[in-house]
Amino acid sequence: MPHLLAPSILAADFANLQRDVELVNASAAHWFHLDVMDGVFVPNISFGMPVIQAIAKHAKKPLDVHLMIVDPDRYIQTFADLGADVLTVHAEACPHLHRTLGAIRDAGMKAGVALNPHTPVETLRDVAGDLDLVCLMSVNPGFGGQSFIDRTFAKTTALRTLLEEEGAKEALIEIDGGVGMGNARALVDAGANVLVAGSSVFRSEDPMAAALNLVNA
Ligand code: DX5
Ligand code: ZN
Repeated sequence: MPHLLAPSILAADFANLQRDVELVNASAAHWFHLDVMDGVFVPNISFGMPVIQAIAKHAKKPLDVHLMIVDPDRYIQTFADLGADVLTVHAEACPHLHRTLGAIRDAGMKAGVALNPHTPVETLRDVAGDLDLVCLMSVNPGFGGQSFIDRTFAKTTALRTLLEEEGAKEALIEIDGGVGMGNARALVDAGANVLVAGSSVFRSEDPMAAALNLVNA
């Protein structure tokens, strides 16, 4: 399966949000990646429901919502109602991850789990059959524009092996943080299926061309 590209709206121009949403609609990218931060789980606050509602009104591609918040269970139905297609929670924020993943699927969304750079992939072995996507954080979550952590290559390979061992090879591996033309191909070769790209798309001279290059990487 060819890999997917999910531009992160965190790097868009919030004063021209509709323009940047239309840019993704018109580009070669596949999904919208929406980063929700609460200032508690991560040391930054991004945007929440009203902004996602505004984006959803114009977005013509699936919404991949990445929750960097504590106690995400409280909002699962809310994000389903907003039109999220993929809802990703952090393993570190979920004491009852198995139950949370079930609730996301029951609400009609694809269930994703994100792992911080320090969290081993082995933590997912017993829920491998209960998830649709694993988001490997290749930076410490909270901010766009950080440098890629090289250890992510080995982690991607190890996760691919784990998913196969557990009969979960349909699950997608997403890489989030510091992704660009310098590492995109190698990540896909290591087993990644979805590349999130914030700065490398929106902060480039030509975001349309940047998206196309990352799709063809
Ligand atoms: C970081 C977010 C990322 C971020 C990626 O906490 O989860 O999605 O927007 O931005 P870049 O691609 O600039 O590293
Ligand atoms: Zn993200």
